[in-house]
Amino acid sequence: MNARIIGTGSVLPKKVVTNFDLAEIVDTNDEWIVSRTGIKERHVAIEESTSSMATEAGKKALEDAGMTAEELEMILVATVTPDYVTPSTACMVQAAIGATNAVAMDLSAACSGFVFALNTAQAYIRAGIYKKILVIGVETLSKVVDWTDRSTCILFGDGAGAAVVSADAEAGIQDFVQYTDGAKGVALQCDARQHKNLFGTRAFENEYVQMDGQAVFKFAVRRVPESIQKLLDRNQLTAEQIDLYVLHQANMRIIETVAKFLKEPMDKFPMNMERCGNTSGASVPLLLDELNRAGRFKRGDKLILSGFGGGLTWGSIYMIW
Ligand code: ACO
Repeated sequence: MNARIIGTGSVLPKKVVTNFDLAEIVDTNDEWIVSRTGIKERHVAIEESTSSMATEAGKKALEDAGMTAEELEMILVATVTPDYVTPSTACMVQAAIGATNAVAMDLSAACSGFVFALNTAQAYIRAGIYKKILVIGVETLSKVVDWTDRSTCILFGDGAGAAVVSADAEAGIQDFVQYTDGAKGVALQCDARQHKNLFGTRAFENEYVQMDGQAVFKFAVRRVPESIQKLLDRNQLTAEQIDLYVLHQANMRIIETVAKFLKEPMDKFPMNMERCGNTSGASVPLLLDELNRAGRFKRGDKLILSGFGGGLTWGSIYMIW
């Protein structure tokens, strides 16, 4: 049995922050941001929270799947920006939607989070343990971004995307690869809570997201095509046989480099970072939902999904819609 996506949902916070808005806060401009990243605007949570966006995206995915919350056996939430250390975001979603029969837990793998969570769902379904799982990718990156640092604050956005997967004998996830290089994790860092107790305090090293942009860029343009090629080879597929490539929306130039490596046209690499910025673990399910609702997928289509980022982590999925 494979995990097959049978419903999707997503949500973006109401507040839109354009590059022009950012140019009033830090020394930057629209032309610099668009030419380096492809991003024009992003959504920033004010009233929304990680758990409220996850809940709304999850409800929409259930509705799209025609499934009730009680039918779910598991909820997996990929996030690096939860509301609480405990309860996890997944536990909060479980309560909010009334998924009383589902076990719930979070998974932390930054921008690879949703892809890794989907692979985890696939493993549970393959093993015959569960048949119906809600997988969510959600981030409120605006709370870990230093709004005075022009090299990072222009990149990120908030949002959530969700997918309901169910066991299918033929379609769904056919194969996946996933990797970690913890030794290079320093390229993208952010402290958790400050180490502070009655007996001592350790200063924050990186209170907000710190990134070596060029190191991350080099990592992504090497590792993403490599992981996709591995999947293609292992499944005796050519890049041409894939209908759509749904990649993490970090940066337009990274996606263009992957397309060039695979010698595939850009229209097979849909993007929404222009409107959403980089929403880390939420970007792949957000884009999947937009494409699904726009009718871009039909039964039997071959898709590649890729996530890559903090950890460092990266991975790709080959699925039949
Ligand atoms: N506006 C104007 N100038 C800026 C800005 C800005 N927002 N940010 C940096 N600059 C300046 C720098 O200060 C530097 O000036 P200097 O030459 O006078 O020192 C100059 O622009 C070039 O800076 P670089 O950091 O070398 O710029 P680069 O061309 O590498 O672009 C970027 C930066 C866009 C972050 C690029 O490295 C990149 O795309 N990296 C990939 C990282 C990424 O996408 N991370 C997302 C999170 S991780 C993930 O999702 C995979």
